[in-house]
Amino acid sequence: MTSPTLRHSRITGTGSFLPPNRLTNDALAAQLAADGIETSDQWIVERTGIRARHFAAPDVTSSDLAVEAARHALAAADVDAANIDLIIVATSTPDMVFPSTACLVQRKLGVAGCAAFDVQAVCSGFVYALTVADSMIRTGAASKALVIGAEVFSRILDFKDRGTCVLFGDGAGAVVLEASATPGILASELHADGRHVEILCVPGNVSGGQVLGDPLLKMDGPAVFKLAVGMLYDVAKSVLEKAGRSDADIDWLIPHQANIRILLSTAKRLKLPLDKLIVTVDQHGNTSAASIPLALDESVRSGKIVRGDTVLLEGVGGGFTWGAVLLDL
Ligand code: UT7
Repeated sequence: MTSPTLRHSRITGTGSFLPPNRLTNDALAAQLAADGIETSDQWIVERTGIRARHFAAPDVTSSDLAVEAARHALAAADVDAANIDLIIVATSTPDMVFPSTACLVQRKLGVAGCAAFDVQAVCSGFVYALTVADSMIRTGAASKALVIGAEVFSRILDFKDRGTCVLFGDGAGAVVLEASATPGILASELHADGRHVEILCVPGNVSGGQVLGDPLLKMDGPAVFKLAVGMLYDVAKSVLEKAGRSDADIDWLIPHQANIRILLSTAKRLKLPLDKLIVTVDQHGNTSAASIPLALDESVRSGKIVRGDTVLLEGVGGGFTWGAVLLDL
């Protein structure tokens, strides 16, 4: 009797894209001041660690950013778009109500036929999408997947609410995930708790030819902060245990980039030296589902994260949703 060959998935290429318009805290504060909204570089840096973010031009959509990130990831993996058999886009700012942003990305890549769909788990979206792609590869439903996080959060910000509009930015990150005889993705875990819907949401809805309800982001920052810190620690411990690894095995921690204080507290609770923590929130702000693949790609391209490193990705956000993926690059 032959034993079945175990099938795993592994990241073979990463890519990212930021729209060129970079806005520093001072530039944003000046724009807000013109509308009577008071903020400062000092407040934003002290409370969040954010120094700048990128905003897409008005005619640029999530699929535009996604396709650029995807092209970089495909080139890094040396994979032709025609050989991709699964496209998953994690986004909460899709181009349209439907079809999915993944279908638009597929068209922009000039390919057709492969499965393509979106995952909506807000800032946990990339971790959700990667877990779905890994599962599909391990069952044989796909062999070469493009997994993308892409957002234009600037479209859903209330620029009269200084408590939220200074936090977010636009961007996209992508990975090519391929079937592999050796494990890349070691373990993953996803969670949601719908009892917390109201603390982070965009309550509006398209109905009867109009937008019903408020189409702008609402957040109870302190409530989100409190939940996020506990969840990121718990899910990290749990995914490490699932993979039979310990805190000491982590070469790099990439938590969702929302607030430097949350990142530092997660690293501290995991007793991880701070030089193992990847931080991009200072330059990108919170790019929701794009933040983790953007941080991963920047770290790979800068030579920080190298093949064979063990990386823990952690997402947390609206829903409430949270999750983690532990992987060997
Ligand atoms: O992506 C999903 C995950 N999201 C997150 O993880 C976000 C989690 N939450 C946070 O990061 C923080 O709660 C915030 C950065 C959103 C807020 O920081 P905070 O330390 O919790 O501030 P706060 O909301 O308690 O506000 C403190 C003060 C308030 O003034 P008073 O009432 O004390 O006089 C705010 O009005 O800071 C004021 N404030 C600002 N001041 C200047 C709020 N936003 C600003 C601002 N500039 N932009």
